[in-house]
Amino acid sequence: MLVLGIESSCDETGLALLRVEVDSAPILVGEVLSSQVALHEKYGGVVPELASREHLKNLPILFEELLDRTNCAIEDIDVIGVTCGPGLKGCLLVGVTFAQGLSSSSGIPIVAVNHIEGHILSAQMHYPDLRPPYLALVVSGGHTEIILVEAIGQYRCICRTQDDAAGEAFDKSANLMGLGYPGGVDLANLADAFLGKSRFTLPRVAREIESFSFSGLKTAIASLVRKEVIALQDHNERAEIAWTIQDSIVDALLYKTRKALDLYDVPLVICGGVSANQELQRRLRQLCANVFVPPLKHCVDNGAMIAYAAACHIIEGHSYGHLDIHSRWPVEMLKDFYGLS
Ligand code: KG4
Ligand code: ZN
Repeated sequence: MLVLGIESSCDETGLALLRVEVDSAPILVGEVLSSQVALHEKYGGVVPELASREHLKNLPILFEELLDRTNCAIEDIDVIGVTCGPGLKGCLLVGVTFAQGLSSSSGIPIVAVNHIEGHILSAQMHYPDLRPPYLALVVSGGHTEIILVEAIGQYRCICRTQDDAAGEAFDKSANLMGLGYPGGVDLANLADAFLGKSRFTLPRVAREIESFSFSGLKTAIASLVRKEVIALQDHNERAEIAWTIQDSIVDALLYKTRKALDLYDVPLVICGGVSANQELQRRLRQLCANVFVPPLKHCVDNGAMIAYAAACHIIEGHSYGHLDIHSRWPVEMLKDFYGLS
């Protein structure tokens, strides 16, 4: 079946056409992505209203471009997968309305997809031999959680952030250091330039398994950056401070992941934008022999992961789900959503 995936939950408009057949590796027929980073940069964060309008403008243009590039026609599409949450309400609504427009003019059915499930399953899309059960460390700009994947649509939350997400911790730290927006990658690049043992210190994580917390760390990072204004003028010391920040965030992620792996001896998937972080990947690979990370372009938001999640539900014979918008939508609720319980 040929699946169109539509992603518009935050500041990326992503569309993809994916061919998925039972018992064979999915084929990415084509994909297009438009990032709004430049638009939101001057505000230092995503402005929801601007983001929605940008999706509204981009979706029809990108859809035409996707059909052109792949030599496909609307009639070739068997099913549409669209992100219904979690995310910014207006942005989600634009994507869902676009999908409904295509569906009502062509009769193509729509599967409602959870964005986080899309991130989780993106690893399976690239490693077809990977099958549940496995643990997924979901680390993005808005989410930080460890999920036990028991089956498609059946997820158990092992640990979730009670405040900021890891990506936010990276981005806010980068902002404090005067790096670009969203500064996660810049901070990571600067940190990777430091070799040695840092003389700076930051607090270590809370010990309980049930939740991550990055707000205390954020405060500590803010006071470190304020205290070290002189050191921050020097490139090497900037790198040393960036390294210390990255180390403390990675440490927090590692500590809880290790505890989860102690409980469940299964492979580990890392997904979401922060999974692109090389230090995080390196240290998780030391922890677990079976680590699966999607390629960089599919670590961040994209349409292919949404198409794949939709296809998985169809193959499993699940219901297509209601096209309601959910700004919050924990993956453990999907069992009921797809009528699996
Ligand atoms: O999954 P994603 O594309 O969007 C959300 O759903 O949030 O993740 C974006 C997040 C941003 O916070 C960005 O700074 C972070 O991923 N990020 C990184 C790296 N690459 C992207 N953080 C740390 N190191 C990286 N290499
Ligand atoms: Zn995401």
